[in-house]
Amino acid sequence: MNDHFPITHDASAIEEARVAIAEGHLVGMPTETVYGLAADATNPEAVARVYAAKGRPAFNPLISHVSSIDMACQEGLLDDRALTLAHTFWPGPLTLVVPVNPEGKTCELARAGLDTIALREPAHPVARALLEVLHVPLAAPSANPSGKLSPTSAEDVSLALDDEVALVIDGGRSHLGVESTIIGVIPGEPLRLLRPGAISREELTPVVGYLSDDESGLISAPGQLSSHYAPNAALRLNAQRRGKDEVLIGFGPRAPVNSLNLSKKGDTAEAAANLYRLLREADSLGVDRIAVMPIPDTGLGEAINDRLRRAAAPRD
Ligand code: TXA
Ligand code: MG
Repeated sequence: MNDHFPITHDASAIEEARVAIAEGHLVGMPTETVYGLAADATNPEAVARVYAAKGRPAFNPLISHVSSIDMACQEGLLDDRALTLAHTFWPGPLTLVVPVNPEGKTCELARAGLDTIALREPAHPVARALLEVLHVPLAAPSANPSGKLSPTSAEDVSLALDDEVALVIDGGRSHLGVESTIIGVIPGEPLRLLRPGAISREELTPVVGYLSDDESGLISAPGQLSSHYAPNAALRLNAQRRGKDEVLIGFGPRAPVNSLNLSKKGDTAEAAANLYRLLREADSLGVDRIAVMPIPDTGLGEAINDRLRRAAAPRD
């Protein structure tokens, strides 16, 4: 770690981050899902820095993080279904894509010029403290170079983006470890699951009923199938055993003892929390290929399998 981009978690870090963000700089911000690369969503220059820092295509919009449902309603138009979802799952790992409120302060670049906006009220106390003192929405994509593994610790952010951030606030390991679930809530249209994530389908359907999978092709971006969330090594999915020159990532009690196990007890939430960390660990062993055992599609397995498929997709 180098000195001029300290990882810090003392109380003054919030103040330091507030000043940096108000001045248009970027801050590594812990959330309960993954670490975000946070910028003032109302400042187009700061948002442009986010795209540049990540090497992210400018057609791929960012999530505006808000401090409350009230702030969400200033930025987007939430119908009854969106409000029900927000009241049930916020603060927490749910992102709602809704029509933009023309009065909203999030700049057009953060929305990639779309007439919809992605909104989330995070639960992590550090993210909340920062939003509390800033009074503006924070544009915060996962704090990784575009296409690479998402960060689940302050150190991950520092290693990947230390030249781009004013500071990284250390809020401990992201305890959910997989990104928020994204639901499209457009009036007159059925609810769409745009990205499976930390809130499972099983938790959502009792609240909102049937969720259609996204077939609208709203944007072609990391939400959609292309190479993303990828480690350096190639990935082989649904592996039963380790092949020659491979590292095996296992799941469940029957995985070989010498594998990196996502969850020995076969718990998909625990596996989600370990996913990026173990992919990083496997990568650090310098192998050409990582083999991953099958993960059931239930609970957070849907989000894990979504990320694994993207990580295994052909790369440019
Ligand atoms: O858990 C998370 O959601 C993390 C933490 C930091 O909050 N953030 C995150 O952001 O995963 P990012 O930028 O890596 O992913 C945001 C996703 C992208 O796939 C983007 O295409 C989609 O949200 N998105 C944003 N605005 C959208 C819109 N108007 N319509 C459809 N998809 C949208
Ligand atoms: Mg991301």
